[in-house]
Amino acid sequence: MTDPRTVYLSDYRPYSHLVDQVDLTVRLAPRATRVDARLHLRPNPAARGRHVLRLDGEDLRLVSVRLDGTLLDLTPDDTGLTVPADLLPEAPFVLETTVEISPETNTALEGLYMSKGMYCTQCEAEGFRKITFYPDRPDVMAPFKVRIESDLPVLLSNGNPVASGPGWAEWHDPWPKPAYLFALVAGDLVAHRDSFTTRSGHAVDLAVWVRAADIDRCAYAMDSLIRSMKWDEQTYGREYDLDVFNIVAVDDFNMGAMENKGLNIFNSKLVLASPETATDDDYARIEAVIAHEYFHNWTGNRITCRDWFQLCLKEGLTVFRDQQFSGDMRSHAVKRIEDVLTLRARQFREDQGPLAHPVRPESFVEINNFYTATVYEKGAEIIGMLKRLVGDDGYARALDLYFDRHDGHAATIEDWLKVFEDATGRDLTQFKRWYSEAGTPRVTVSEAWNPGPQGGTYTLTLTQVNPPTPGQPDKGAKVIPVAVGLLNPNGDEVVPTTVLELTKGSQSFRFEGLAARPIPSILRGFSAPVVLERAVSAQERAFLLAHDTDPFNRWEAGRSLARDMLVAMVAKGAGVSPAWAEALPQLVLDDSLDPAFRALALRLPAEDDIAQTLHAAGTVPDPDAIRAARRAAATALAQRLAPHLPGLIAGLTDSGPFTADARAAGRRALKTAALQLLARVDGGAAAEAAYAAANNMTEEVGALAALLDIGKGAAELARFETRWSGNALVMDKWFALQVALAAPDQAAAVTRRLTERPDFDWKNPNRFRAVIGALSGNHAGFHHAGGDGYRTVADWLLKLDPLNPQTAARMSTAFETWRRYDAGRQALAQAELRRILAAPGLSRDLSEMAGRMLAG
Ligand code: PHE
Ligand code: ZN
Repeated sequence: MTDPRTVYLSDYRPYSHLVDQVDLTVRLAPRATRVDARLHLRPNPAARGRHVLRLDGEDLRLVSVRLDGTLLDLTPDDTGLTVPADLLPEAPFVLETTVEISPETNTALEGLYMSKGMYCTQCEAEGFRKITFYPDRPDVMAPFKVRIESDLPVLLSNGNPVASGPGWAEWHDPWPKPAYLFALVAGDLVAHRDSFTTRSGHAVDLAVWVRAADIDRCAYAMDSLIRSMKWDEQTYGREYDLDVFNIVAVDDFNMGAMENKGLNIFNSKLVLASPETATDDDYARIEAVIAHEYFHNWTGNRITCRDWFQLCLKEGLTVFRDQQFSGDMRSHAVKRIEDVLTLRARQFREDQGPLAHPVRPESFVEINNFYTATVYEKGAEIIGMLKRLVGDDGYARALDLYFDRHDGHAATIEDWLKVFEDATGRDLTQFKRWYSEAGTPRVTVSEAWNPGPQGGTYTLTLTQVNPPTPGQPDKGAKVIPVAVGLLNPNGDEVVPTTVLELTKGSQSFRFEGLAARPIPSILRGFSAPVVLERAVSAQERAFLLAHDTDPFNRWEAGRSLARDMLVAMVAKGAGVSPAWAEALPQLVLDDSLDPAFRALALRLPAEDDIAQTLHAAGTVPDPDAIRAARRAAATALAQRLAPHLPGLIAGLTDSGPFTADARAAGRRALKTAALQLLARVDGGAAAEAAYAAANNMTEEVGALAALLDIGKGAAELARFETRWSGNALVMDKWFALQVALAAPDQAAAVTRRLTERPDFDWKNPNRFRAVIGALSGNHAGFHHAGGDGYRTVADWLLKLDPLNPQTAARMSTAFETWRRYDAGRQALAQAELRRILAAPGLSRDLSEMAGRMLAG
């Protein structure tokens, strides 16, 4: 069943006209903002023949249209305005429109909307059409001049400021850009200012704009911006290209942030930070997202996407760049582990369910539904593989060529791969399958050892299986870079990391002249986004956990030990594995290792991760059994480590002033992990003391979580509320923790109770996510056998959808795993999805998502 609104990549045609210049005048008023647009147009020589002029437009009240000064009598339809071909000159002409819009009643947070008295915009992907009639597609690029009229004191748009006076300001963006990068902000804002001089000597004024109450929480965002600007010069040779760079923090925002040219708009949770209000994870995310949006200035803005099917061209590459940056700023080993954790939790989950789609999809109904973990995170993994295959030098040459060849243009994945082929001589025809085929490849390994007089030969045979996904039953073999190292039984590395290129269904690789049968360390650094399937003994995993020189695989060995154990506990009723219970404490107590790494090693696989593993192995996961096994393992570990935990915690307690750097954050992460274990054996006494002593949000929230996890913490919750009721971002944590850590049979009830509070501002996406998102993240709670988890989430999605379809659709992915579970749960979840799909007036966004989840 195909939706008549489906858009196909294969239907791409160049636009009929070119836009040479856009002049906008925006007179702001809450219910009647006037937008005058003057478009300087001419026929596009690349689109031969005579064409109508089709402009996109939604929810616009048309006041007038003029062509070269002459009034036209035209009536728009639901999706835009057509100027008939016979009215259009075959030479350049000017089209002027005036429309009226109502930002105050725009609850979708797309187009021009209001958030707490301030005006702001969100145009990616297709929001500009809610501001004025325009060819709202990324391959139409034009310079913009913008005049804003309003009594509000701060009036911002893209590019450089040209002139201003009381009640107005004019901006000029000289760099041709697609409409999705347009932005406008007006409000009663104050700036945290700094400046940056580019390496060629150009001075740039930097500002982070916030409401007055937030001004003392901008320093970290500014610092991250300056480090990003320097890094992109040093690492990619990319300089900034305007006189100003503005960042604005907005409380109501559907996503994380947006890279509008010269005027990035951010969800305030990704800007505002102080030690008392932000956790170390918040700091790390702020640093990463500030960098991400800044890096888009070249990978996204100067070089943009030809059409939305090419979204990964800018997103995959920019995520890869921000990951490199965070690794350089912090620790590459820790960053890689964290990125793989996210990839597996979100992208592998997506790739193995009904919403699986290629990194470059070939069709969509609503493009907003394709800002996914696959496009972003798997898109970034593909860049990492390319770099591994062509080497650092090849990558650098290819990127130089990319910037050279495509600057100022709207490019495709074909263009991107071509620069690698031209710069390195490598044929990427087969590699391209990573872009067109969905699904996570499974790689199995078998080994052979032949001793010989000249040393033995060790043979690794790698086999790949590419499982079917919706609409793609059969797939070809991928090019899979598998980084391998070999260790001697005494722990020495005998073969350093070598990249094997698996290009066929099955292939053997030989290592000769070895003194003894080696222990292999496979897929080092997680060199490809695949599932590695290899039956390994607990002893061998413990050996790698102790000796592997590759930090990722060292962590992975501990992770696999834990996963194997948990799966055996759930599926076979096994007990806690002695190998795991021996090996892990040794690593955790090894003071020569980075505390951040030890904290990650302590983290048990999430319940959803265990469910995913069981399902992939053909077992129906039981959410309650998974939760029980995970808690039993944590308690066993806590008992084992108990004598050491107080000393570990004391040794990690810093008395000096707070710093947000990676070293201090790593110490707090390990301390918090230790505290959460200790709570399982001391009844929460240490966590209560830590809560009382905490002088930063990481430790405050960490101690509170430790208490909630053992069913305590009521007094601390009340104190937290009293202290933070005036800070919405901090209160989001308070809401989320209670739902995330509620017992399975309580989770839906806790959620409903919280949604009845007056401060449950459900139209604010952050608050909605904090509560409803936390319920879908509480694995055993959401999948509670009574169905109240499913029902509660579905009720709220249906309530949100008419106001904010984009966020409702995103959050519906809670249901993407419904087919994993038993018949009873399946029936309950399916009934909720059907109820959603049958709702009258359901948005295109949510109906596409529910339809795909029911079909797949
Ligand atoms: N382009 C933004 C980013 O990845 C994400 C975004 C998409 C924001 C759509 C808003 C709307 O940086
Ligand atoms: Zn992005």
